[in-house]
Amino acid sequence: MEQKEMRLDFNFMMREQIGDDSGLAAEDIQFLGGHIKRVHDELTAKRSSGEIAFFDLPYQDTGPIKSLAADIAATFDNFLLIGIGGSALGPVAIHNALHSPFYNQRVGKGGKARPRLYFLDNVDPDETAVLLEILDLKKTVIVVITKSGSTAETMASFLVLREAIRKTTGRIDPAQIIAITDPETGILRKMARQEGYRTLDIPGGVGGRFSVLTPVGLLSAAVSGVDIDEILSGAALMDRRCSNPDIWQNPAYMKGVLEYLFHTREGRNISVLMAYSEALGSIIEWYVQLWAESLGKKYGLDGRAVYAGQTPVKAIGATDQHSQIQLYMEGPHDKTITFLRVEEFNTEIPIPEAFEEMEGIGYLCGHTLNELIHAEQRATEVALARAGRPNCRIDIPAITPSVIGQLFYMFEVQTAFAGGLYKIDPFDQPGVEEGKRLTFGMMGRKGFEDKKREIEGIQKNSRYVI
Ligand code: PA5
Repeated sequence: MEQKEMRLDFNFMMREQIGDDSGLAAEDIQFLGGHIKRVHDELTAKRSSGEIAFFDLPYQDTGPIKSLAADIAATFDNFLLIGIGGSALGPVAIHNALHSPFYNQRVGKGGKARPRLYFLDNVDPDETAVLLEILDLKKTVIVVITKSGSTAETMASFLVLREAIRKTTGRIDPAQIIAITDPETGILRKMARQEGYRTLDIPGGVGGRFSVLTPVGLLSAAVSGVDIDEILSGAALMDRRCSNPDIWQNPAYMKGVLEYLFHTREGRNISVLMAYSEALGSIIEWYVQLWAESLGKKYGLDGRAVYAGQTPVKAIGATDQHSQIQLYMEGPHDKTITFLRVEEFNTEIPIPEAFEEMEGIGYLCGHTLNELIHAEQRATEVALARAGRPNCRIDIPAITPSVIGQLFYMFEVQTAFAGGLYKIDPFDQPGVEEGKRLTFGMMGRKGFEDKKREIEGIQKNSRYVI
């Protein structure tokens, strides 16, 4: 079946459309030709050597994921995913994009009975308490996801749920727990071996925020009836487009270059992603982590301080036209804006004929909500362009598994590519580490006693509280 392709329209980032002061010239992009070739060659070499493994995920064997998903769907009423960061944002993004917001309420009604899906990506005690109250733990499968196998939040929540199951059922049935983790290393892998949980692997060379197309994102999708092969064939299609060294044919490279140029040359250090679709909101949250954690780096590869990275911001149209757009239109010239526009929604809703004689409202009659949301999006991008605000648009033919796969893949290549332009490592996250060490200290982990003392010292000196 022919797949519909998403398109990147960046006319409103270019000088011809938004003027000399705000837009880029084609020559600005051509001028980066040497860098573009260098980064392309580096990424291609790292792909061939297996050092960057997310590139080849579209071609994996999904058999083990699908058979485990079928078994889960036939056995359990509830599916609870525990993870954080890259181990949760991807599965949530797929779920919210491809299912209705009231998915759990609709399970068992009409369509095929599937487990209800729950995602626990925080250690908020009140949220966990409610979850424990509503879940029938005898009929719940716990899917714990952590690449490192030891993330404090994930492991703490897992221990809470595991104990709750033991109390409810009188034992730990290994069939009720699935671990998705590194194939070899980490504490979760050790626990799985010890207690006999079923497991799926996050391949080595795939870090958390690049793992959505592994079992991390695909198991929950398959359990809820999503065609995960279609997600991967969308990603494969995008791989073909994004392997092209010609920047003018490659949407991921082009998007990476545009953001990089606007950031480094024009001081546009905020990158807004605004979807005119509620369903795509969680994909933006996934992207926010990808862009922020990958590019926000103090040091370049040569060890010099560079303070790289744009601040990614989530917006939803049309809602945020009534909240953020005033700032984007007239505030500081420090942003780029990328719209996600869905051409065909699953539904068309006509605006009823009523009060036609009332001038301020009658014009809506006979149109559809679909027409209105499209008009809002177009009007906003044109108004921004007229105000000299660079913006571009990703046209999404429809929200299908294939298109979701295309989007994930494009954003991942864009991020890896931008990392190469900034000359930083987009795959590490050293800035997250100090917070983790201080947490270990406060929680009494052996070897981190000095961190506990540091926090206590700071607390003693805290006197500015009113
Ligand atoms: O992208 C990353 O590497 C992080 O955001 C991780 O996904 C997050 O810290 C969770 O790590 P882990 O999967 O090891 O529990």
